[in-house]
Amino acid sequence: MTQSPLGAALSDAAAEIEKALDRLLPPATGPEAKLMEAMRYASMSGGKRLRPFLVLETAGLFDVKRGCALRVAAAVECVHCYSLVHDDLPAMDDDDLRRGKPTVHKAFDEATAVLAGDALLTYAFELLSGAETHDDPRVRLELVSLLAQASGPHGMVGGQMSDLAAEAAGDDFDLGAVTRMQKMKTGALIQAAAEAGAVLGKASHEARTALRGYAHDLGLAFQIADDLLDVEGRVEDTGKAVAKDAARGKATFVSILGVERARDQAERLVDQAIHHVAPFGLRADNLRALARYVIDRKS
Ligand code: IPE
Ligand code: IPE
Ligand code: MG
Ligand code: MG
Ligand code: MG
Repeated sequence: MTQSPLGAALSDAAAEIEKALDRLLPPATGPEAKLMEAMRYASMSGGKRLRPFLVLETAGLFDVKRGCALRVAAAVECVHCYSLVHDDLPAMDDDDLRRGKPTVHKAFDEATAVLAGDALLTYAFELLSGAETHDDPRVRLELVSLLAQASGPHGMVGGQMSDLAAEAAGDDFDLGAVTRMQKMKTGALIQAAAEAGAVLGKASHEARTALRGYAHDLGLAFQIADDLLDVEGRVEDTGKAVAKDAARGKATFVSILGVERARDQAERLVDQAIHHVAPFGLRADNLRALARYVIDRKS
């Protein structure tokens, strides 16, 4: 079967990221060997690599050196993978399957999963702050700040806390509250990934704002698609359990809007996202195709 241009670009980028992670997370020896093994298990083999792809594509708009973009892409993916390891823990979503394989706490044990998540998170900042990431230390500092803000209490972790509150929240969680939660738990990291390319490329304020707008809409559409997949998807495709949100009584876009309106909303967001990258012309073709893919995907 022939691949679409986006399909080919996504799989090329995934292979590059995989190679970069393999190099950056080499197997260890000694008592901490198990930690590195769990970090490699959590971050290699599988996943759509959407966030690193965003870093690479947006960096490409500003002719950033591939090696620098790859390091940043790997750092963002480390944070994402850590978030999945912790999200799957019994204390959170209690999931046994991720990317078609046993979750880290199942393949190893809970303590190792907690530590592997911690280590992936901190290692991301070690990568960003390293001299190989960019010659200009101000750029490195800005990347550290961007990723920290997206991942911490005002971003992903704050969103995950809110997500726990959305379980059995009943009518207390309206569309506004769900939108805010999803922007934090999923949107923030996607937005940081897209902005990272602009930071690396010392892009103009206008260009960065355009990418921020694109990623804002893309991130929300992405989470609506994730919520839809929980209702309509198949484990064979998603590689993770489905029908979990309703079982846990979790407020999501789908529980509030219903399937049809949630899909309409996602499509509107994708149109808006595409509109934002108009100033980049043909160079943003992959970003446009990615926006469509995000809601058409089966996994
Ligand atoms: C899943 O993210 C978790 C959410 C933020 C909804 P992805 O759907 O990007 O997961 P992978 O990386 O492809 O496995
Ligand atoms: C997780 O959201 C978002 C993260 C920050 C990890 P979900 O709990 O909906 O993600 P899945 O469905 O388990 O991938
Ligand atoms: Mg969750
Ligand atoms: Mg989950
Ligand atoms: Mg989900």
